[in-house]
Amino acid sequence: MHDKTWSGRFNEPVSELVKQYTASIGFDQRLAEWDIQGSLAHAQMLKETGVLDEGDLADIRRGMAEILEEIRSGKIEWSLDLEDVHMNIERRLTDKIGDAGKRLHTGRSRNDQVATDIRLWLRDQITVIQNLIQNLQTALLDLAEQNAETVMPGFTHLQVAQPVSFGHHMLAYVEMLGRDNERMADCRRRVNRMPLGAAALAGTTYPIRREITAELLGFEQICQNSLDAVSDRDFAIEFTSAASLIMVHLSRLSEELILWMSPRFGFIDIADRFCTGSSIMPQKKNPDVPELVRGKSGRVIGHLIGLITLMKSQPLAYNKDNQEDKEPLFDTADTLIDTLRIYADMMRGVTVKPDNMRAAVMQGFATATDLADYLVKKGMPFRDAHEVVAQAVRHADEAGVDLSELPLEVLQGFSKLISDDVYGVLTPEGSLNARNHLGGTAPEQVRLQVKRWREVLA
Ligand code: ARG
Repeated sequence: MHDKTWSGRFNEPVSELVKQYTASIGFDQRLAEWDIQGSLAHAQMLKETGVLDEGDLADIRRGMAEILEEIRSGKIEWSLDLEDVHMNIERRLTDKIGDAGKRLHTGRSRNDQVATDIRLWLRDQITVIQNLIQNLQTALLDLAEQNAETVMPGFTHLQVAQPVSFGHHMLAYVEMLGRDNERMADCRRRVNRMPLGAAALAGTTYPIRREITAELLGFEQICQNSLDAVSDRDFAIEFTSAASLIMVHLSRLSEELILWMSPRFGFIDIADRFCTGSSIMPQKKNPDVPELVRGKSGRVIGHLIGLITLMKSQPLAYNKDNQEDKEPLFDTADTLIDTLRIYADMMRGVTVKPDNMRAAVMQGFATATDLADYLVKKGMPFRDAHEVVAQAVRHADEAGVDLSELPLEVLQGFSKLISDDVYGVLTPEGSLNARNHLGGTAPEQVRLQVKRWREVLA
């Protein structure tokens, strides 16, 4: 007798190489607790419909409680011969309780079982991720609030464009993360549907009642087609796609932190505990954490491509290809969770250097648009104002000063419409204050957004 569930049909045991190649126990063991949750609900449903009796259910519960204990204390021994977590747990149960253990698999298959396990597991991960997103948003909101008035250059094409506040800049990421959280919530609704009852692919001849199992497991909905239930992994692809977007957002912020921390910018400092030195250059302090986040975003995007490629061309219904869904999915959740966790801590360790930020604004003629707007408000057509300001900028550039540092007589040489109230708009602070509308960078708007987000997150 070989040690396999389907032994009776086979004339020789599977080769050692094939055994290793096809086994998933090395990685799917982390589904064990969710597998047991699913089995307990399935057993209870079978008892309620009269397929199992009271005694069987009691035995199953007792055996599973012991197995759970063995798993949690690290005492369980996983066997490669038993291929995956489902068969390992079932065999362990049967060893403990005998026939009731062998009856557990009535009316189900590993195909609906594994699809259920992944969904139960993923549902829990999404809840963790949503909380971590909100925690990071809170860290960014604290920075935004403290820096509602901190002037920095806003960039387009990485060239100084117009003054913005550092608080406003942080709020841009709060918005991105807000949509990321919405995507996770939306994805969770589709993850939270129950495949159990689909059995291998066509359903089962036993009098099952899927509503009972779904209710016990807290599923919001039940998969309505057995073929679809066991075969599609679109929910995993969706999750990985939402995760990739989060990583992309954090990769962009990381790129900025790296630039801002370099002495060329000198806009911020990141606490030492998030940086490392160089083994050869004593002066170095490297922003390792943001660099790794930028790097790990590639890893998560890779998983997305892997999973979506895995699904393509699979005929209905279940195929063993799907066993390959787990490692990328697990790694996506692990990477994302670690990243969100460390990121919130790191943002709490950012110190802002307002003087350097302001000095950079002063070097880039960042208020040129404000001067043009000023002339337009005094009656000059915008195209003409654009040209006048271009000449003023050229002059200031040659003189090596900012527009706000040109004397009034000089400015009036470019247009008679200019009077001494012009300095109110030429300073970075004046420029910020002037953009006082919903979504604008004025400190008042930044504070309103911080307040709004705090209410959303409360
Ligand atoms: N280990 C398998 C997986 O992860 C479980 C389902 C296997 N079903 C089967 N008919 N071989 O997908």
